[in-house]
Order: sequence, then structure tokens, then C-alpha cells
Amino acid sequence: MRKTSPIGDVIIELSEIDSTNNYAMKLLNEGMAEAGLCIKADKQTQGKGQLGNIWISEESKNLLFSVILDTEDFVIEKQFYLNAMACISVADLLMNHFEIREISIKWPNDIYAGNKKIAGILIENNIRGNSWTNAVVGIGLNINQTVFPDLNRATSLINETGKAEKVNHVMKLLIKYLNKNYLLLQKDEEQLFKLYNSLLFKIGSKVLYKKKHEILEGILLGVSKMGLLELKTGNLIKGYKHKEVELIIS
Ligand code: BTN
Repeated sequence: MRKTSPIGDVIIELSEIDSTNNYAMKLLNEGMAEAGLCIKADKQTQGKGQLGNIWISEESKNLLFSVILDTEDFVIEKQFYLNAMACISVADLLMNHFEIREISIKWPNDIYAGNKKIAGILIENNIRGNSWTNAVVGIGLNINQTVFPDLNRATSLINETGKAEKVNHVMKLLIKYLNKNYLLLQKDEEQLFKLYNSLLFKIGSKVLYKKKHEILEGILLGVSKMGLLELKTGNLIKGYKHKEVELIIS
């Protein structure tokens, strides 16, 4: 596995699979994959989202993509940095190539255009003992789908720019940004971390959030290096894990 190539030197394109993340994990477990390998599918029959949710996407309209990364040189406590790298890469592509305004990262790893989600990221890690050996970074980016029947808070590239794009073209561009930011992760993780916070949805603003069954108001201060969402409620500043709180978007 230690053999590493730049991200996207080898791309496996599938017409149908359960999940590109599952496929990547299977290749890894069979010793059939090296870092940098990308998997792309036109259709997923069991696309996976965060927190056990399903990821639904119209066939051939959107990017369904996973990349395998070697994480042996990273300490396990820095898992959040890899998440930041993936989020920044998608945001970078949407802001700087497609010039979409109001791109932000909704903690921990949703990419938003205005008040709507345009991409989601699911990272699955292989950890052996104390060593973080590799990770599968799964990215779902909405490109040419215009209607999202079950999701009123979703958008796509075409809905934001008015222009259809070839999915493979967007994938190649994304790979470029992933390579750039993966290098930044290796060279200057502090800068990467600052970038993440600078792109954070609602940073410095008053937000409503749900904690257990309570709705609370607080100021979103930022995200800590451990990936905790820091909220100031009254005089209390507290860092929360992913499942502990949920931001409410009005
Ligand atoms: C989320 O926002 O809930 C994360 C969505 C991640 C979806 C992508 S699509 C490609 C890859 N394969 C999967 O099964 N999931 C990720």
C-alpha cells in the first residue's frame, strides 16, 4: 500500500455499483489498490451519506467519486485535517473555477452554495492499532441534476451557474484541486486549518442549534483543531462533536 501516486493517475469508472466508497474499501482490503486511486460511478444503488443516511443521485447527472489516500504519515489525532482538505478542495473548485458566490463549508463536511447543500463528503478510515493506515474520501457533488424531490435544501452546479457540465470534466478539475490541497496538508496544515475556518458557514454569527431536544441560540466561533464546533451560549464556550449538536438553517 505504501506505493503512492498523485491522486487520479489511475481512475476506475463504473456504470453501476453499490457505493464507490465500499468498492474502494473492498479493493484496499484485498490489497488491490494503491494510494491515489480514484473510483467514479454513474449510479450507486446504496450510496452512503453521513450518519448512516443514504445518498441519492440521479443516474449520470452528478459526480459520485471516491479516492484512496495513504495516511500513514499523519497522526491519528489529525483526522479532522483530512476532512478539511477534502472540503477545501471542493470549495476551491466551486469558488475559483466555477466562480460560484457564497460557497461555504457547513461543519463538519457539507459544501453549501448560499443556504443550499451542493456537495457532501464521507470519509472512512482504516485504523490498525494506533496507526491510521489509509482513508477513503467519498465525494458526492451535484452537477446537472435540477430537481431534488426529497430535499428542499439541495442545489447543483447547473442550478447555480445555469450551465451544464460534463461530469468527467468536473472530476478532472476536482482531482487537480485535491492534489493541490493534499500537498498543502503535507506542507502546511496550519494554513489548511485557517482556510477551513475562513470558509465556515455562519462563522462569527448568531445561530440556532439543536442539542438533544432543545433548541438553543449561540455564536458560532469556529472549529477547533480536533474538529469540534465551538459555540458560545451565554457566557459559556463549548466544543461539540458531530452528533452532539445540529445547526438549524432558517
Ligand atoms: C453526506 O453529505 O451525507 C455525505 C455524502 C457522500 C456521498 C458520496 S457519493 C460517492 C461516495 N460513495 C458513497 O457511498 N458516498 C460517497
